[in-house]
Amino acid sequence: MSGSARIAALVLAAGRGERLGHALPKAFVPLAGRTLIEISIRSLAASGVFERIVPVIASADIARFDALALAGIDGLSPPVAGGAERQDSMRAGLAGLSDEIDYVAVHDAARCLVTIEDVRSVVAVALESGAAILGERVKDTIKRVAAGRILETPPREECWAAQTPQVVRRDWLVEAIDSATRAGRQATDDAQLLEWMGHAIAMVEAGAPNPKITRPEDLVLAEALLAMRKNA
Ligand code: CTP
Ligand code: MG
Repeated sequence: MSGSARIAALVLAAGRGERLGHALPKAFVPLAGRTLIEISIRSLAASGVFERIVPVIASADIARFDALALAGIDGLSPPVAGGAERQDSMRAGLAGLSDEIDYVAVHDAARCLVTIEDVRSVVAVALESGAAILGERVKDTIKRVAAGRILETPPREECWAAQTPQVVRRDWLVEAIDSATRAGRQATDDAQLLEWMGHAIAMVEAGAPNPKITRPEDLVLAEALLAMRKNA
């Protein structure tokens, strides 16, 4: 299917950013002079692999989104209104895609540092195998904990932190989200929906830091990373 595969990207930006605690909704917070949503959209567009890029925005923020200077970005679609949970926003974006799209890349607007190279590599692996996500090996030893007590220590060499983009066959994702919705299950990422369906998903190691802007200190870190890349 590669070569001729038609690929769309959903940029999820409908969250409030409670943990960031900024006056603006997280996607509209500026980083080095540009909003997180704009930086994310421009990186995806620059990868050159998407025929459409669909922003998923909270209804209350659509006017704010329309006011951004994004004219001329190749393949950028009008925004779709998001939902209460991340999975609802993903489903809303997915519902708006044409049946002719073969693959969907789901990306968090909050992960605006993703590089063009990493976007291209996760897409390339997905086109071979049906589904692939970006991730990084964890540095810390991971403990599973409940009620303040350690339950187990999974082997560190098998532990990875999941990132986005998560790139999957559109028909697999549609089937997986329908099934999760019927069962009333909320996944914390898109790969988990496919895991529940028994699909194999490839993990692609990110070549550069790709943190999710979550807390105020992440903005400071992201700004430093951007400055470092500029000077490289
Ligand atoms: N997201 C979304 N719709 C939601 C919730 C989240 O589109 N209902 C998006 C966010 O905009 C973000 C991504 O999913 O780009 C990852 O979510 P997260 O980092 O948790 O962002 P928020 O939910 O906005 O932040 P918080 O949990 O701190 O409120
Ligand atoms: Mg959240």
